[in-house]
Amino acid sequence: MVRVGLLGCGTVGSGVVKLLEQNHELISRRSGCPIVLKKVLERDAAKCLALGLPLNMVAGSLDEIVDDPEIDIVVELIGGEEPAFTYITTAMQKGKHVVTANKDLIAIRGKELFEIAGENNVDFYFEASVAGGIPVIYALKQALAANNIKAVVGILNGTTNYILTKMSQEGQDFKEVLAQAQELGYAESDPTADVEGLDAARKIAILSSIAFNSRLTLSDVHVEGITGITASDIEYARELGYSVKLLAIATEEDGQMQARVHPAFIPKNHPLAAVNDVYNAVFIQGDAVGDIMLYGRGAGQMPTASAVVGDIIEISRNLSQNYVTRLGCTCYEDKKILNMGQLSSQFYIRLLVNDRPGVLAGIAGVFGNNNVSIAAVVQKTSTGDQAELIMITHRVLESDLQDALTVLRGMSIVGEIGSVIRVEEFVR
Ligand SMILES: NC(=O)c1ccc[n+]([C@@H]2O[C@H](COP(=O)([O-])OP(=O)(O)OC[C@H]3O[C@@H](n4cnc5c(N)ncnc54)[C@H](OP(=O)(O)O)[C@@H]3O)[C@@H](O)[C@H]2O)c1
Repeated sequence: MVRVGLLGCGTVGSGVVKLLEQNHELISRRSGCPIVLKKVLERDAAKCLALGLPLNMVAGSLDEIVDDPEIDIVVELIGGEEPAFTYITTAMQKGKHVVTANKDLIAIRGKELFEIAGENNVDFYFEASVAGGIPVIYALKQALAANNIKAVVGILNGTTNYILTKMSQEGQDFKEVLAQAQELGYAESDPTADVEGLDAARKIAILSSIAFNSRLTLSDVHVEGITGITASDIEYARELGYSVKLLAIATEEDGQMQARVHPAFIPKNHPLAAVNDVYNAVFIQGDAVGDIMLYGRGAGQMPTASAVVGDIIEISRNLSQNYVTRLGCTCYEDKKILNMGQLSSQFYIRLLVNDRPGVLAGIAGVFGNNNVSIAAVVQKTSTGDQAELIMITHRVLESDLQDALTVLRGMSIVGEIGSVIRVEEFVR
């Protein structure tokens, strides 16, 4: 029998309690032994009682769980950096295997956690931390282990994908759709971590470290959110044959890696363009497998519990076969991390300029002087003495584009640089 101690009985923790109960028979058969929840640490005991757990299962302190010699696996689902880090490391030091869904912690302190797990000879699993119910960590670490992974491109945040989907379907602006998403419970009252791209950044930091076997942390990820995307950007994207998505992208070439989160135009016929509403997906390019895409629910009580319980089952199998740390840290290389200026992309640029002869030539000259070559220009609307220009560049160096934009911002003929959005043709 494998006994579990649960820390946190909130959304995901409650899902784990329900799933262990609901599918007890098949989980036990697949694990090779019964899996039993022994104790739960939760600030509000009423949450445990509401799930039908007896009061004597509610622990009064962490020690009651980590000092219980019968408990094999500690499942951390309280979230945040502290006290989660201290609780996890204490459990490991007391010989407990650990499962967590805590992306905030792994994206910043993953290395320390793996080292402490290694020192204490315990398993550390975290499948639910990246894409909820989508088993992408398992796919990268195990099923795709034979591949050189070239790129991992994810739609990793359900809230922003819901907002962009609604903006696209209903032609509404960001603020309107965000307010609706908050009413429906798809966005937090403080949506900053989602709409500014931070949540997706934590997840791509974790995925890129696994895909390329080299540690990359949250501070290495270039992050831009979706707050500047307008209904007209989405409409122009559609006219040009693209969808707008918040992408989390990790790439590796010649031993150099890079991770970023930003809105992007992607071709309408790319499989990621069909990922709508709160759904998530991860598109992976491997040298043997080619292109594959995993799709599903990236959050939510039962999808996330599915991944957490999958990890508990995996550790239970290890225990029943007397294996430990079979699948530990896979960051055994130290690759160079490129900065954004060194990357090249195509760009969509929306500008408001003075509507008079010679202006277009002046703007084209600035781009040309900075090695930015323009693939297409469309003049959309004229209002009074200003015209809206849409430009698509060829693939250009990011630093060259930024230099050109700096010059344009200082020119009197340029009223406003509305949007600058990368066009990701490479994922076609
Ligand atoms: N929700 C999802 O869909 C989802 C998806 C993927 C990953 N995750 C990750 O899963 C983890 C849990 O998320 P969640 O949505 O389940 O959060 P949640 O609903 O806020 O649950 C956390 C629970 O832990 C309790 N708690 C917090 N600190 C505690 C402490 N020191 N001692 C005892 N209990 C404590 C909280 O009680 P109070 O409410 O009283 O603070 C709450 O009941 C997070 O790391 C999150 O990032 C969540």
